[in-house]
Amino acid sequence: MTNHSIALIPGDGIGTEVLPAAREVLDSIGTRHGITFTYERYDWSCERYLRHGSMMPEDGLERLRRHDAILLGAVGYPGVPDHVSLWGLLIPIRRAFSQYVNLRPIRVFDGLPSPVRAAVTGEVDFVVVRENTEGEYSEIGGRMNRGLPGEMAVQQAVFTRAGVTRLLDYAFGLAERRGGPLTSATKSNGIVHTMPFWDELVAERGAAHPAVEWNQEHIDALAAKFVLDPARFDVVVASNLFGDILSDLAAAVAGGIGIAPSANLNPEGEHPSMFEPVHGSAPDIAGQGIANPIGAIWSAAMMLDHLGHPGAAAEITDAIARVLATTPVRTRDLGGSASTAEFTAEILRHL
Ligand code: NAI
Ligand code: MG
Repeated sequence: MTNHSIALIPGDGIGTEVLPAAREVLDSIGTRHGITFTYERYDWSCERYLRHGSMMPEDGLERLRRHDAILLGAVGYPGVPDHVSLWGLLIPIRRAFSQYVNLRPIRVFDGLPSPVRAAVTGEVDFVVVRENTEGEYSEIGGRMNRGLPGEMAVQQAVFTRAGVTRLLDYAFGLAERRGGPLTSATKSNGIVHTMPFWDELVAERGAAHPAVEWNQEHIDALAAKFVLDPARFDVVVASNLFGDILSDLAAAVAGGIGIAPSANLNPEGEHPSMFEPVHGSAPDIAGQGIANPIGAIWSAAMMLDHLGHPGAAAEITDAIARVLATTPVRTRDLGGSASTAEFTAEILRHL
């Protein structure tokens, strides 16, 4: 028997609806594999911010540190600015726990048509590896002359040799394990300091991983190729901003944001990693019990894989694939009429 201590942060909106679905799936798969979970639920959210003035308590990070992993729903609530939820919870967790790899797999499943004509089911299966702790998402900069004609804002991107190198080593290692090519997202024609530096480090780490075939593409052309020829990619490595945009685009190519999972990894395992669906709190459908739980359930599978149970994780993704390929059960965003609970029950039947 292995036990894992899991911090559950459902957050806001549909985060509180999809996380229970993920937990049911974890408990079911755990029973079959001799894995148990001890959950602790934290109500850290924008709703908490409105009541207490902060997304999490002062000792929030210390409390999370005790767990083996963190499973998060989504945060975001009308009336609370989005930078509050991001900088008050998600970014502190990613940085304090050195979760420098943001892993976002993309698959076009059988039975789930992609809106992109070129995306043949079964052929599109790649991973976006996004830098998660520095880059364009930096608090360095400022604003001057507010409200005056000379008003200005400056924001500095921060790329460090250590930060980029550790991400690239993870990405090249992943490409080695998957046996596929690696594509680096760049823009060194327009962004003339940080991106040439990025390119140099890619070439350096590429030389250290001779088994991996790699190339680089400018982000604008790469975005077009995601739509025109998504099957050619296997591992795509990108900076914080580029990776964020590319992975949402990729999720759309795969059939919708509701199915996309993500992992915020501390690969060394020195700190807990965090797993969360790519989607947000979806205030437009919150409270109706109709959210698609696939993104959250697949994120839970990534958590199991990270915790050392790749077989159990694969059983979950196989169950998702089988439900989509062999049954008509779909939530509304995928053209069906199933509720979150009904879809989850179908997954449990196929486990
Ligand atoms: P969103 O992902 O919440 O919603 C975009 C659209 O996709 C909506 O029409 C929504 O109904 C639909 N959708 C998303 N997930 C779905 C699911 N599982 N099943 C069915 N339909 C789904 O993004 P939006 O609207 O830009 O942001 C809403 C709030 O969420 C904002 O406050 C934003 O800051 C926050 N957000 C939080 C994230 C996080 O916690 N990591 C990530 C993205 C947004
Ligand atoms: Mg995003």
